[in-house]
Amino acid sequence: VSLGVMASGSGSNFEAIAHGIINGELNAKIQVLVYNNPDAKVKEKAEKLGIKAVLLNHRDFKTREELDQAIVEIFQNHGVQWVVMAGWMRIITNVLLNAFPRKVINIHPSLLPSFKGINAVEQALKAKVKITGCTVHLVDLAVDSGPILIQSAVPILDDDTPETLHKRIQVQEHLIMVRAIALLPHLENQ
Ligand code: GRF
Repeated sequence: VSLGVMASGSGSNFEAIAHGIINGELNAKIQVLVYNNPDAKVKEKAEKLGIKAVLLNHRDFKTREELDQAIVEIFQNHGVQWVVMAGWMRIITNVLLNAFPRKVINIHPSLLPSFKGINAVEQALKAKVKITGCTVHLVDLAVDSGPILIQSAVPILDDDTPETLHKRIQVQEHLIMVRAIALLPHLENQ
């Protein structure tokens, strides 16, 4: 599968996908990475891996739709079939979803439908649940919603801070991200 990845942050999920491809676990190619934050660490990771990275700074666009249109053009020009939101911290619009219908996946650090939106890890701690986790799902227009592909559960420990918990969730994120991408060819005809 031909992937276009969108990321805003450190890029550990992006790196997990790239390693899955290098290891031969995934039969896929990352055609291009789009990132929106000039300081995002994901940029250096892409450079090291020899993957093309394009900065689209959301501050340069008047509307969400215009940003998404620019993303769509880059992905279409690079032959992208599947879009992976790997820590994309912007709300997306129909412009992206219409260009890639049922072909956009997202990773979220909670067991959806619990704890949607930002600060999902803090939300789980505050709610005092004993188990949280992470989810990869197909994206629809609402934030952190759409058919779930894979989830992984992570226990919350008594002395967890947002940082320690997020770290353990991320170990699971990297595993389910790779497994979800391996599933994509089986979803092609749905
Ligand atoms: C992940 O926790 C993901 O679930 C959330 O943003 C974070 C991105 O982490 N949506 P990274 O940039 O892949 O390290």
